[in-house]
Amino acid sequence: MTPKGSQASNQKCMVFPSLTNHKLPMRTYDILDLPLTYDANEMAMSMQLTSLISNLRPRQLLNLNFPNKDATLTCCAIRKSDHVVPETQSLVHQFNPTTPIEEAVTPPTSWYTDSSFFHFELDRVFYRGWQVVGTTEQIKDSRDFFTGRLGDVEYVVCRDDGGMVRAFHNVCRHHASILASGSGKKSCFVCPYHGWTYGLNGILLKATRISGMRNFHINDFGLLPIEVATWGPFVLLNLEKESLPQKEVDSHNVSKEWLGSCSEFLSTSGVDSSLSYVCRREYVIECNWKVFCDNYLDGGYHVPYAHKGLASGLKMDSYSITMFERVSIQSCEGSSEKSKESYDRVGRKAIYAFIYPNFMINRYGPWMDTNLVVPLGPNKCQVIFDYYLEHSLKDDTGFIEKSLQDSEEVQIEDIVLCEGVQKGLQSPAYSVGRYAPTVEQAMHHFHCLLYENLVQ
Ligand code: FES
Ligand SMILES: [Fe+2]
Repeated sequence: MTPKGSQASNQKCMVFPSLTNHKLPMRTYDILDLPLTYDANEMAMSMQLTSLISNLRPRQLLNLNFPNKDATLTCCAIRKSDHVVPETQSLVHQFNPTTPIEEAVTPPTSWYTDSSFFHFELDRVFYRGWQVVGTTEQIKDSRDFFTGRLGDVEYVVCRDDGGMVRAFHNVCRHHASILASGSGKKSCFVCPYHGWTYGLNGILLKATRISGMRNFHINDFGLLPIEVATWGPFVLLNLEKESLPQKEVDSHNVSKEWLGSCSEFLSTSGVDSSLSYVCRREYVIECNWKVFCDNYLDGGYHVPYAHKGLASGLKMDSYSITMFERVSIQSCEGSSEKSKESYDRVGRKAIYAFIYPNFMINRYGPWMDTNLVVPLGPNKCQVIFDYYLEHSLKDDTGFIEKSLQDSEEVQIEDIVLCEGVQKGLQSPAYSVGRYAPTVEQAMHHFHCLLYENLVQ
């Protein structure tokens, strides 16, 4: 029997007719078919079914007993990427991670331009493992919340009345309206569509006008939780893991899973919560998210050519690169000789940490900034910069403004480069490139990690 897939919730679901008890016709059911009947029992039934399915773990089997129908369906939720089309799979294998960097060619252009590859990446890379989504500054106090989207996943992160950080799918359980928007402070989430109201702990507090609805249990219709953790000033989500309400995440495990053996280095290199949060800058860039990462990971190769202002504050010959499991660290000493101003900003040593797949921490002088590269499509990403500063300088507005201006200049230069590369990748003139082995090791490491992630 060939099961038929449907997308009833945020997971792809397959529904198989039971082999034993089938007053429903013996066929494959599409969950989306059910609401098309106007029978009140059917409506209640489909609501119940949808609720069950959205709570299913991938590959978990479940028997569904239909009220008022002498029938059972067996249901199985699967990940969309379990149905990888062979062509997408073959694109992954066009990169060979075992070739030494001296001989290796870069991943093919399809990795940067193909829409099916992009969706495959979302499933394999971004819907697994810990992903940075924001800062603790955004949920400093109880009732603070912020929302966002990663791939197709809409999420809301909040701090509840007891001070606990929580995250949920930001989708109303009634008819899928986006529940909360933007960020701010709320004592509960009221759906803008028909007013269903959820607590900051995700519980459905009020479902409006449900009199007459049968087989509806309010406790089954809370917001679907997402596992959330914090590390230093960063908020992370893990979309893969089941999160039971009330569960506290062990921060040591998160540190190990997210940063591996680099966690100690980072926490002792001034990447911590003692810095003052300054501001956020966001840029939408017309390039694949990996183009921005590649640009970051070229070991300072482009700096003397593309960032002449920045280059004057760095001793480019002191550039060094260290690789950890999922992290690479590029570092460079500051140069006081050429420019006093840029030395004040960059300081004695700059550390550029790349945390696979899409997060960068830059620690230099009194500053730390982070870059989160959010994939928006095969040819588009958003880069979110958050700036932090040593506490003693937090009121020095002149210094802050000048530093932000310098940083913005570098960013604009990088945007021009990245958008130029994306256009080149789309051109028929280019298929693969090469690595400069003495400087582009971190980029090669990134591509190898990505390959491993995609074939898992
Ligand atoms: S969609 Fe939220 S209350 Fe109807
Ligand atoms: Fe750059």
